[in-house]
Amino acid sequence: MPNLLDKRLLFVTGKGGVGKSTVAIALGLLAAQRGLRTIVAELASQERVQGLFSETEREQFRELELAPGLFTISIDPQQAMEEYLRVKAGAVGQALSSSRLFQAFAMATPGMRELLSIGKVWELAQLHRRTRGAAPYDLVIVDAPATGHGVGLLRTPRTFADIARVGPIAHQGQTIAETIADQDFTGVIAVATPEEMPINETLTLADELAKDGLPLDLVIVNALYPARFEAAEIAELASALTRTRSALARSALRAALSEHARAGTQREQRDRLSRRVNGRLVELPYVFADHLGLPQLRQLADSLETAL
Ligand SMILES: Nc1ncnc2c1ncn2[C@@H]1O[C@H](COP(=O)(O)OP(=O)(O)OP(=O)(O)O)[C@@H](O)[C@H]1O
Ligand SMILES: [Mg+2]
Repeated sequence: MPNLLDKRLLFVTGKGGVGKSTVAIALGLLAAQRGLRTIVAELASQERVQGLFSETEREQFRELELAPGLFTISIDPQQAMEEYLRVKAGAVGQALSSSRLFQAFAMATPGMRELLSIGKVWELAQLHRRTRGAAPYDLVIVDAPATGHGVGLLRTPRTFADIARVGPIAHQGQTIAETIADQDFTGVIAVATPEEMPINETLTLADELAKDGLPLDLVIVNALYPARFEAAEIAELASALTRTRSALARSALRAALSEHARAGTQREQRDRLSRRVNGRLVELPYVFADHLGLPQLRQLADSLETAL
């Protein structure tokens, strides 16, 4: 596997709630540990990545340092447009960026929000940032919206380039589309929990990406339960359940048996995915904690370390 962290732009995508934001941060921690100046860009104003760290630090559209070498930003399309017009279009841009009518019009254009968001992502990934005084990043990790929207997002620049054909939007769309198609530069990571629906969505995503000539660089199976028992032990537990009279023992035994069953189902789902993605698969354990804070995220980063 060519090293994923050698790329400059990584999209982390997957079904809602499977752990995209968690994985994006864990990857970011790993990259920062390896000395890469890294930013995790959260799209669609979810504000969750920043929320993971501190309530007070949460601030939109500012590059915030969460750990040494790891930054985060929450990308808001409206602010992305204002910034774009400010830095790019001179006096006309200044006028447009203060025109509410123009903004309302632009925001109502289908796909425009996605184009603006991905445009900002692209800007973050440039060695020469067009935002004045902004320092370059070695790696940009995009915490992309749930799958479906995820592929749409990657397609947006190409779509705009094709529709507009000429002019600044076509040019910008073309440039971003070329960046996305460049496999040395851009990578796509899918996150799935080991359950039927998320795995189905991941397989669909892989097919959709393939249609656009994009590979799925890595699949992360997140929140895998530990397999604690051998078959012989399970037989013993099951037999103990029929023998014991203690209510407490019975509920403990039932819990152990049902967790074992769940771990088994999860592995069947993981294997179904693994067969289709030819081993480009990394597992992350389920972390038993009330809240995933920095120590837990570092633990997940360590699990990724061995795999990447
Ligand atoms: N490996 C794990 N072990 C335990 N809990 C996890 C793990 N990964 C994620 N979680 C928890 O699952 C929940 C969803 O995770 P997260 O917010 O990262 O998902 P998401 O895919 O970004 O969701 P959304 O689609 O809403 O943006 C969170 O509460 C997170 O702490
Ligand atoms: Mg999220």
